[in-house]
Parts: sequence; structure tokens; C-alpha cells
Amino acid sequence: EANEKESMYLVSEFAQKYFHNVLMHTDEGKAIGYSYFKERGFTKDTIEKFGLGYSPESWDAFTLEALGKGYKLDYLDKTGLTIVKEGKQFDRFKGRVMFPIQSMSGRILGFGGRILTNDKKAAKYLNSPESEIYHKSKVLYGIFHAKQAIAKQDNCFLVEGYTDVIQLHQAGIENVVASSGTALTPDQIRLVNRLTKNITVLFDGDAAGLRASIRGIDLILEEGMNVKVCTFPEGEDPDSFAKKTAYDDLVAYLSNSAMDFIQFKASLLMKEAKNDPIKKAELIRDMVMSISKIPDKIKREIYIQECSRIMDISEDVLFNTLAQLVQKDI
Ligand code: CTP
Ligand code: MN
Ligand code: MN
Ligand code: MN
Ligand code: MN
Repeated sequence: EANEKESMYLVSEFAQKYFHNVLMHTDEGKAIGYSYFKERGFTKDTIEKFGLGYSPESWDAFTLEALGKGYKLDYLDKTGLTIVKEGKQFDRFKGRVMFPIQSMSGRILGFGGRILTNDKKAAKYLNSPESEIYHKSKVLYGIFHAKQAIAKQDNCFLVEGYTDVIQLHQAGIENVVASSGTALTPDQIRLVNRLTKNITVLFDGDAAGLRASIRGIDLILEEGMNVKVCTFPEGEDPDSFAKKTAYDDLVAYLSNSAMDFIQFKASLLMKEAKNDPIKKAELIRDMVMSISKIPDKIKREIYIQECSRIMDISEDVLFNTLAQLVQKDI
């Protein structure tokens, strides 16, 4: 219902202003939240631009403030800002630094909240629940601030996390968005597709990041887009890497180490399979599988030729394998 959605947007916008104000103008917010962001290397301008905030260490300070301002408990509940349990009300994001999640047009849809301690038992990030205004599979973190740069650069960097988006932005690379917590979805890729046909995947330099990159490639190809992959040293993510790298070196790294997906898959082979013929066969089938996702027939052929060259295997064999895989399309 339109009225209900509008009420949910309004309470979310109130929450963003509240958390931001606590961060900037209260003793607790400054001592805990603001200094946390400073330690991560975020400037005041960056904190302002992304509307970052802090939710006080209190069971219900935010909820009481919102109710006092006339926002209805029903919408606090529906947006997940307040947890209503056995007639009691709790602030969902108590004691966390807040990352507001915006739509393409800049409306507040939800939040990610990060704990400040290294308590391994608590979830590092807590996110707003799925709601009438927040459909996680259709949202990309950072898209509002990135859309112009994506169109202008005709390329979109895709990262995993909130802080990766923010740190790259601050470093001067603004065409960047994050899937944030959910596995990449076709709807998220279509958001980018409206702005550019080119995506460069920049996932974390760990096993999870590698798996996610591999999954992402096929989805992006299926949307008819071009995909490159850029990997980071073990243990680094775009945030940590950008933070310690000078702008020129960062730009050079991103352009020099970006590989076309086919080279990327080939480089995995070199690492994993080396001279093992069974593994090599598996990986070649895997590469052809990715190629089969490309909707455009001419592009598929060009990639088969490329694959043949890189893997030193005849085009005929590859075309036969491809033909079996795309039969359903013919
Ligand atoms: N994420 C999440 N819930 C978690 C862990 C991660 O929603 N418990 C999402 C967040 O959007 C996070 C992204 O997945 O930004 C990537 O996860 P990770 O690499 O673990 O976090 P970073 O973004 O690197 O966060 P930080 O640098 O603050 O540790
Ligand atoms: Mn401000
Ligand atoms: Mn990670
Ligand atoms: Mn990370
Ligand atoms: Mn990180």
C-alpha cells in the first residue's frame, strides 16, 4: 500500500538523521562511533556524504525518540528499526555504527549496523530485515552516489562490503557498488546494466571472495554484460588495499590486474590444476560453461577462440562442447 510504504520511508529517513546526529553531536557518538570511523580512515566529508551514524548503547533510546516525534510503532516494527517482542520494544541496532542503504534515487531503504568490538560471538554486521521498502535482492549499496560515475566511466566496480564502497569513493574511485551480504542477484546486475555494460568484480582476497567472484561471473555474462575480475592479495579487501595504497598506484593496480573472465578462469587453472589433466578438463568444461551463458552468438565464438588459444586445445572440441551446452537455446 502506497501510504504504508511512504510512512516506512519517512521513519527510515528520520532514523538516518537521528543516528547521524548522535554520531556527530553527542559525547557517546563522538567518543565511540566517530572515532571508530576516523580510525578506519574515513574523513568527515566521507562520513557526511554517506550519512553514516551511530546507534547509542541503549535498549530503546532511538525507539523512544521516534515515538515521541509521532512515528508509529507499527512502522518502526515493519522497517525492523525496533524489535517488538512480548509487548516490549528494543532498538535493533543498539551500540552499532550505522551505514544507511539508499535507493538509486537516494531514499533510505534500510541500514547495515557494525559492531565495534571484536566479539566473535556477535554478528559483525546486522542488517535491516527484508521489508516492503527494502528488497535486498534488488538493491546495491552505493548506487545513489555511484550512478553518475558509472555512466561516465562506462564501467562499474562491484565489491562485497559497505566499507569497500566508501574507502574507494574516498580514494577518488566513485563508480563502485556493493552487493552487501547477499549473493549477487540478476536484479542487482540489471540495475547496473542501465548505466553500463561493463562490470569489474573486486572481491575479497579470501576463499569466500573467490567463490563469490566465480558465481558472479556467470550471472553477469547471462545478462549480456562484459565482466572482468581483479583479485587482491590474500587477506586484503578493496577497503584495506585502497587505504594503504596511493591513488596513482591504486588506479594502476585496478587497470593492470583486471583480467577478462576467461583469463581469470585460466589463471585459476594454472594455480589449481597445473599439469593434472583431469582437473584441466574440468576447468575447460567450466570455462565453456561460462561462455555458454553469453547471449550473443558472435561473442561466444570470439571467446571460444580465446579459450582455445589460452588453454591450447582445439577450437573444434570446444565448439562441440559449447554446442551441447547451448542446444537448449537453438
Ligand atoms: N556482511 C553481513 N553480515 C555479516 C558479515 C558480512 O551482512 N555478518 C556483509 C556486509 O555487507 C559486509 C559484506 O558482507 O560489508 C562483506 O563482508 P566482510 O568482508 O566480512 O566485511 P567487510 O565489509 O570487509 O567489513 P569490515 O572491514 O568492517 O570487517
Ligand atoms: Mn551532517
Ligand atoms: Mn570477506
Ligand atoms: Mn571484506
Ligand atoms: Mn573489510
